Amino acid sequence: MTAIACIEDLRKKAEKRVPRMFYDYADSGSWSESTYRANEDDLQAIKFRQRVAIDVSTRDTKMPMLGETTTMPVALAPTGLTGMQYADGEILAAKAAADFGVPFTLSTMSICSIEDVAAYSSTPFWFQLYVMRDRDFIRRLVDRAREAKCSALMITLDLQIMGQRHKDVRNGLSAPPKPTLRNLMNLVQKPAWCLGMLGTKRRQFGNIVGHVKGVKDMSSLADWTVSQFDASLSWDDVKEIRKQWGGKVIIKGILDAEDARAAVNVGADAIVVSNHGGRQLDGALSAIKALPAIVDAVGDKAEVWMDGGIRSGQDVLRAIAKGAQGTLIGRAFLYGLGAGGQAGVTKALEIIHKELDLTMGLCGQPELRKVDSSILLAAESDHR
Ligand code: GLV
Repeated sequence: MTAIACIEDLRKKAEKRVPRMFYDYADSGSWSESTYRANEDDLQAIKFRQRVAIDVSTRDTKMPMLGETTTMPVALAPTGLTGMQYADGEILAAKAAADFGVPFTLSTMSICSIEDVAAYSSTPFWFQLYVMRDRDFIRRLVDRAREAKCSALMITLDLQIMGQRHKDVRNGLSAPPKPTLRNLMNLVQKPAWCLGMLGTKRRQFGNIVGHVKGVKDMSSLADWTVSQFDASLSWDDVKEIRKQWGGKVIIKGILDAEDARAAVNVGADAIVVSNHGGRQLDGALSAIKALPAIVDAVGDKAEVWMDGGIRSGQDVLRAIAKGAQGTLIGRAFLYGLGAGGQAGVTKALEIIHKELDLTMGLCGQPELRKVDSSILLAAESDHR
């Protein structure tokens, strides 16, 4: 991919190529989008110390996540409808992640099924679980993830009920899109996307349609979520799912130290500090601001990762300097996917890796594993 220098370039390309409904789904936050914006702004406000005359000729960005070696501690986040950004999107993103040496997480709300992704990716991936009312379905889903040799289960807790994203309401979000005049007019302007979609059978929620009684299609995502997602979810449910799974568990969607302690108590191996990319509780703290208190509360009882607002390798470094042991990227890889499929995801990872590597060098810290808050200006919060 030529003339692409940064994630923002990929975003602009994706905006042109992907139908409005799906681009908006990925790009928006809930209500006023203040938390969505704060995720990015609060990261940007963190200032580095520029250091010189330190040997940074050999640099190492590797850091393990859950004991798995990674090229850099940046996992692809579970994102719904990924296969609507680009045909067979989850398969392509999983392949790009495996080739680059970073973890891939498949969402419950993916278009390609667990089995599909497992068939095309030789590297084990993580499976993200939303807990739904139909517990038989959930048990089967967990079994399917185990059979597909997923190496960890990521249980997302911050979407028991769905926050409203205004654009999704206005766009009448559904997969595949309903053939309304407005949708058809938009699709006419996206010929490459349409061609890709005509070439695949994967156009609905692959983990769900055909596996849940009575669900034959997904007319409106919001309506379906309201009817299926379990608003009564408790820590006891999480304990039970962990027992059934029997492997490593990541708890995602923690923004509060008290909840972080509860996640540790149910046996989380890793916690993702997250406000769901500003898509759930608008007005909540940005993920980077919530991170330090959670790092303190958890100590060494579990790994603490964060997502939300990461658009560059510099942001990854900021999160690590603030105490995260890993990060997740959602939109940053979706923009790459929407812009150019597998090559676009690879490009997004290359951009982030290069930015991370160069920034470490300019901060005078050649080893990511040794990074701590000493690479930041002590009074960075005053530099806004
Ligand atoms: C689901 O993960 C969503 O944020 O829409």
